[in-house]
Amino acid sequence: PDTAEVDPAGDLRLAGVSLGAVAEEHGTPVYVLDAATFVRRAGAYRDALAAHHAGPSEVHYAGKAYLSVAVAQLALREGLHLDAVSVGEVRVGRHAGVPGDRIHLHGNAKTAAELREARRLGVGTVIVDSLDELRTLAELARDGVPQAVMLRLSPGVAADTHPHISTGHAGSKFGIPLSLLPDAARLLAAAPALRYVGLHCHIGSQITDLRPYRAAVRVLLDAAGDLRRWHGWTTRTLSPGGGLGIAATAGEPEPAIEAHVQAVAAEVAAGCERRGLPQPKLVLEPGRSIVGPAMVALYRVVAAKPLDARDGEATAYLHLDGGMGDNVRPAMYGARLAALPVSGTCRPHRLVAHLSGRYCESGDILARDVHLPEVRAGEVLAVPAAGAYTLSMASSYNHVPRPPVVLVFDGHARLVTRRESHDDLIARDAALPEPLAAGL
Ligand code: LLP
Repeated sequence: PDTAEVDPAGDLRLAGVSLGAVAEEHGTPVYVLDAATFVRRAGAYRDALAAHHAGPSEVHYAGKAYLSVAVAQLALREGLHLDAVSVGEVRVGRHAGVPGDRIHLHGNAKTAAELREARRLGVGTVIVDSLDELRTLAELARDGVPQAVMLRLSPGVAADTHPHISTGHAGSKFGIPLSLLPDAARLLAAAPALRYVGLHCHIGSQITDLRPYRAAVRVLLDAAGDLRRWHGWTTRTLSPGGGLGIAATAGEPEPAIEAHVQAVAAEVAAGCERRGLPQPKLVLEPGRSIVGPAMVALYRVVAAKPLDARDGEATAYLHLDGGMGDNVRPAMYGARLAALPVSGTCRPHRLVAHLSGRYCESGDILARDVHLPEVRAGEVLAVPAAGAYTLSMASSYNHVPRPPVVLVFDGHARLVTRRESHDDLIARDAALPEPLAAGL
């Protein structure tokens, strides 16, 4: 995070707050959110879009990366809109005070009930993923409340990223295949309560090569041209999605936000001019690249289990008090994480450690071969760039409650999401019903 520093005593601080002190006060594991990093990255998107795109523009924070009431409010404060992928996320946004017309609803399997609820909550635009969804929405909008829709297209562009998070290739489960665009347009044309506003696609996440992104923009603009020819429609809004990658460990490439936005805006400008299309409103939906680097996860080493020394270096498992329950990314995508102690950060590296999670699964290793000082049981480790797709994908596997979030800013630390409790977890359960309970 931007505000990270090592104080003269060798202790790590974020926004002037000692991370060791946060771990003491709130327990571990705990996630620490640096407001300044979030704000700067959100602002980088907003300002670069305003600087490089000729038409209007909006940044929609992708809540799936991480959403809480405080984060929704921080995004709103920075002038961002909200990209929600479920009614649950819409509810968080509305609860946080995000106006409905600043919320886009995504998702590839929105039920009629979910769409109805989203409309009741005032969601501005629905990003339609299939022809069946168009039919459902057309039916719902017969209640007299018109509905703005964007079509999510499957652009047939392969991005160089993990297969689980590539979304725009031919055959992807997401989006309307280009071959079905004529049918989608006919359905839309026949539903007067549905108002066509534009086109969307998303090619994947953790993308560092921006060329496929630009190819996707060209596909969207071709489709915009088709819709104009077939039906005379103007594509007022164009959203090539989110997806910019971040570096989680030293030496990984990290594309600059401004360069990315500039490249996309240039592609849109040139493409519109070539096709004689008006400059649309340009929407980007970043999640990871805003919140990822803004959060640090803190874990306590519960036990250090030495392994055979390798090439003269000590090796060990460091058993942490968190793991795949709060961060499934290493197990699920082979994601790599870095780690460093929050105290005595500057000690020489003497240990090659595997950071093993606490969950009952051999695959629960947060990171392998991490170079660290000689870390002992009881020490606290910080894992940087841990904000995206960690807590938002967290589970309570092994009935381990999910961690809290502490927001740090200007020397202050405030709990913004409390730790889940065992009572929270048990509260959903009912006792064994009679007559099965008779023999208890
Ligand atoms: N918009 C749409 C339509 C999306 O599907 C996504 C991410 C985003 C925006 C935000 O993309 P971002 O800027 O965060 O890359 N759980 C996976 C990532 C799944 C991403 C799904 N869609 C992971 O941990 O890597």
